[in-house]
Amino acid sequence: MHDQMKPEIDKAFALVYNRGQFILGSEVVEFEKAFAKYSGTRFCVGVASGLDALVISLKASGIGAGDEVIVPAHTYIASWLAISQMGAKVVPVDVDESTMLIESEKIQEAITKSTKAVMPVHLYGYACDMSAIVELANRYNLIVVEDNAQGHGARSGKMKTGSFGDCNATSFYPTKNLGALGDGGAITTDNPDLAEKVLQLRNYGSKEQFINPIKGFNSRLDELQAAILRVKLQRLDEWNADRLSIAKRYAKELSGVGDLTLPPLNDNSVFHQFVIRTKQRESLRTYLFQKGVGTMIHYPIPPHLQDAYRELNLKKGTFPIAEELAATVLSLPIWPGLSEVQQEWVVTSIKEFFSKH
Ligand SMILES: Cc1ncc(COP(=O)(O)O)c(C=O)c1O
Repeated sequence: MHDQMKPEIDKAFALVYNRGQFILGSEVVEFEKAFAKYSGTRFCVGVASGLDALVISLKASGIGAGDEVIVPAHTYIASWLAISQMGAKVVPVDVDESTMLIESEKIQEAITKSTKAVMPVHLYGYACDMSAIVELANRYNLIVVEDNAQGHGARSGKMKTGSFGDCNATSFYPTKNLGALGDGGAITTDNPDLAEKVLQLRNYGSKEQFINPIKGFNSRLDELQAAILRVKLQRLDEWNADRLSIAKRYAKELSGVGDLTLPPLNDNSVFHQFVIRTKQRESLRTYLFQKGVGTMIHYPIPPHLQDAYRELNLKKGTFPIAEELAATVLSLPIWPGLSEVQQEWVVTSIKEFFSKH
């Protein structure tokens, strides 16, 4: 995919190189405008990574020590780390068995007097039910910060993910649906005050040089990464359509095979991952590896069982669905440009495995 785009990327790179402005120049401004438009939000602010985007979103929203933030038990640990970095309390809830996502009913059960925010994660490119979550958040006066790192272009109802919350965070880690050639992230919002705060927070608490109304971070999207992202953003819908058609093929061909549980197939998803579940994961993974098919496990240990979160004292068995997912999920190859022959090879190899086991 990068090969096809090399001339355009080279041109964008040369332009930035020759212009000589590497931090917060016109490429960042133009990318921010384009990504806001794509997301259906008024504002976008580029930052250095997805984790920073979450941290700055929470900080701008006023989340701090003593506040509780509800987050799914099944997610990449970065969602949790951002909450911890703010000194706030991580309040995990188990996910829904079939969608693998956080749902409003579970959120409601976890709300206390100290709950300040909820962080829905559009894991694997599958969108959370945002109308139910926003309705609940409004009812309980909670802030919503979407973790849209894996959801570029996904929709919940008619709107894109990353456009529902007060402040929403995304990542442009290279393997994401829209990936940079290094680290990068962004915050999307409709709220001009939050956008202003985020602009200051990413740059030492300053919008105007040497004037610092607040204490901030150094977390800026690079000018070079912004230039590359501008080029790649033009292809995002086409790439997402490719992902969806691969997902449809896998879903059709793998239906009823072995003990497989397939992910929900939904035109609103952008299939950052195509995640199957099987009790025979380790042997299937080894078999596929021998056939030249690379797979990944997203994620083998849930955050509550990581040593980093030992202090929460959440023993095995606390979140049975998250734990079951950690034990059974397997991500199949899915990326734009994965050829029909390669897709067929994946399917045939999986069928072959189950015919023998
Ligand atoms: C769901 C989720 N949230 C947050 C992040 C953090 O993004 P980054 O790696 O850009 O810091 C990631 C990606 O790695 C992610 O998958």
